[in-house]
Amino acid sequence: MSTSTETSLDDANNAQKTPKTVPSTSELNKTNNFQRIAHKKMVVRSYPRNKKLETLAVYSSCKFECCKCNGWKNPNAPPQPPVADASQPLANLTDPCKSCRHPLEAHVSHLENTDEEELNRLLRIVVDVENLFVCVHREEDAEAKQVYFYLFKLLRKCILNTSQPSIEGSLGTPPFEKPSIAKGVTNFVLYKFGTLAQKEWQTMYDLAKMFLHCLNHWKLWPPASRGQQLDEKDENDYKLNYTRWLCFCHVPAFCDSLPRYETTLIFGQTLLRSVFQTMRRQLLDKFRAEKDKMPPDKKTLVLTHFPRFLTMLEQEVYGTSSPIWDQDFAQNTANLPTPSPAVSPGAAAGVSGLSRFTSSTVGTDACGVLNISSGLLTSGRQSSRSQEAAEKRKADEAGLSDGAKRPRIDGDVSKEMLQEILAEMNSDGEKEDTMVGPETICPTHAARDEQARQEEKDGKIDFHIINNSLSHRPSNQVFLWLIEMQNLFSHQLPRMPKEYITRLVFDPKHKCLVLIKQNHVIGGICFRMFPTQCFTEIVFCAVTSSEQVKGYGTTLMNHLKDYHLLHNITHFLTFADEFATGYFKKQGFSKDIKLPRAQYLGYIKDYEGATLMGCELCPRINYTDFSRVIRKQKEIIKRIAAKKSIETEKVFSGVGLFKEGVKLPLPFESIPGLVESGWKPPVKKEKEPQVDTDQLFNSLRTILQQVKSHASSWPFLKPVDKSEAPDYYDHIKFPMDLRTMTERLKARYYIHKHLFIADMNRIVTNCRSYNEPDTEYYKCANTIEKYYTTKMKEASLMDK
Ligand code: COA
Repeated sequence: MSTSTETSLDDANNAQKTPKTVPSTSELNKTNNFQRIAHKKMVVRSYPRNKKLETLAVYSSCKFECCKCNGWKNPNAPPQPPVADASQPLANLTDPCKSCRHPLEAHVSHLENTDEEELNRLLRIVVDVENLFVCVHREEDAEAKQVYFYLFKLLRKCILNTSQPSIEGSLGTPPFEKPSIAKGVTNFVLYKFGTLAQKEWQTMYDLAKMFLHCLNHWKLWPPASRGQQLDEKDENDYKLNYTRWLCFCHVPAFCDSLPRYETTLIFGQTLLRSVFQTMRRQLLDKFRAEKDKMPPDKKTLVLTHFPRFLTMLEQEVYGTSSPIWDQDFAQNTANLPTPSPAVSPGAAAGVSGLSRFTSSTVGTDACGVLNISSGLLTSGRQSSRSQEAAEKRKADEAGLSDGAKRPRIDGDVSKEMLQEILAEMNSDGEKEDTMVGPETICPTHAARDEQARQEEKDGKIDFHIINNSLSHRPSNQVFLWLIEMQNLFSHQLPRMPKEYITRLVFDPKHKCLVLIKQNHVIGGICFRMFPTQCFTEIVFCAVTSSEQVKGYGTTLMNHLKDYHLLHNITHFLTFADEFATGYFKKQGFSKDIKLPRAQYLGYIKDYEGATLMGCELCPRINYTDFSRVIRKQKEIIKRIAAKKSIETEKVFSGVGLFKEGVKLPLPFESIPGLVESGWKPPVKKEKEPQVDTDQLFNSLRTILQQVKSHASSWPFLKPVDKSEAPDYYDHIKFPMDLRTMTERLKARYYIHKHLFIADMNRIVTNCRSYNEPDTEYYKCANTIEKYYTTKMKEASLMDK
């Protein structure tokens, strides 16, 4: 879905252009231009050192005493700079500078001892500077032109000072508004659709992702081409946000020396309000125009669900008091994930060797490694979830939440009992370590990852996502871990060629989740993400021999699952050999692949003799915490059972009705203790009108009297005399007669008409089963049956 959305979006984005508003940088925004830029960066990176210095010399200041020359390309270039002379052949280091006439080497003397990576970084900035130069030249919109020029100068200064680019000043620093658009839209999905069933919820969640994806790739209009805005404040806000968007989102997309941010993560409701209506209209127009080319399911999604979704979202975007924009929005979503649709998989890289996350989600250390240990990766999900859970509890107590509205199911545990149990667990020191669970009594029953989780909590182990990068040199630490990872895989997977392992581990498209103990890699998973195809291929997975079967393999997989949920990837695929299928099965993999074949065919590497296995991730689950949650739930159920058993242990007096001469079957309610143990009469499917018991008693008394007075009732007036039919009770196990019925009536046994009907039927069926059809008795039974049913119907006690 995302691929085609991207295409549509690009087209839609292009469609918005009018000759006046076409930004002259539009080509730069296309994929082939990205590739061209990336290629150019790779080319300069492969230059010999001398050539690198020559290139940098023309951008660096002269170090001759008193020389003020800043190189050929003056950083203080005029706003209308001359056309770039990129085609000009490079000079030699001994050539004189065209401006100051000092040899060019005097411009790069400061770089003499600079390491190769730093030179490469500066060269990347050079490529960006040259691109910006073109942008400044071509841009027609005055404001955009100014911004390109500002960035051009900024990057030039970075080359001169060998510094890192940093945009400072009145624009402020991202995020510019909280909550972000991504958070607001996520809140919207939770707020409006949080109670839907999984499938419907997933659809809404996908629509939210699609919307955010569109917005992240949306090209904002220059303020001048938006037309006259009614609201001056909106106009000023938009101007400022447009400049910010250029500096932090748009330009960094093709000038990656500048830090890049996603639009939906750094802007909030204000920007969304400025663009929502136009964006909505153009997106829907585009989808409608493309509808004939879409597969039916996508058509339904974008033409039926998406417009409704947008209409509902619009109300919240422009509403004055929508809760989705509350900073501490907390919905009744204890069992829902807090998805991060805004985290676009495979988005532009930030720091070297670092998997890119939003700053609000995870942090990185000085090495540029993504540390996902101690719940850092899921902290967003967890903290908001626990907050939501707390809110939910409060709301439940106040009878406000949806939970309070939920109809009670028969046999539900009462709220009071649950609260009591939770309080007990708290007062028992309901901490993980002190909980009375099966694993404390019998450690072998503890979840496989329990020990590893504890070690992670204690800081004895941690997990990191690392990868090699061609554009940003990873830190030495990353390299060391990658080498250790490669060695570990080579040892544990002897059937895999070593060179092959090395190639994939060091391939920038592959990532490794590494498990670190005492600063050494003791396990890891190498994987490749295919965000457009919604799946990730698990390439290698291993734990060092001495550390196997301690739960590390499971914990690694759990972390990998959580990491992918944050990236909105919900499928894992792997080719498992005969030794690995057992492990993968235990991690939720199966040979039944849920992902459509077309989605992975041609993407995943095929291994001979191995079995393709897949695992579908559930966005509602926090995998690293899953076994703990289950353990807690088990403990709650155990305590509920214990409480209930105390209640049921009470000894009641026996059934007294027998003494009073009442025969079987007894009404259930009359058995002492049954009702107290929670038994309730089965609920009738059809709602029957409530009958007053006295009224019922009177009706039944009349009918019984009429039956007794009927001419055919004589065989049934009293119990069958054994002397008259010695074998009667051998055949008839549940005898019944009109006298017994009279006694029962008096004893108020017939609290429901069905009890009366049952006894009457018993008389008739007993008679028919004991006697032949041609007997007088049999005929009497038929007559009486007809008679009493007529009377019952007349009294509205039977359907007519
Ligand atoms: N076959 C069947 N079950 C296996 C298994 C195998 N080869 N390896 C592990 N398991 C089971 C464990 O017994 C455990 O089951 P349990 O919880 O019911 O006791 C469960 O899988 C997970 O154990 P865990 O301790 O979390 O895994 P681990 O740390 O031992 O790591 C491997 C599992 C597969 C990564 C590890 O055994 C290994 O490195 N093997 C060699 C390399 C390999 O074959 N990799 C897989 C293909 S790339």
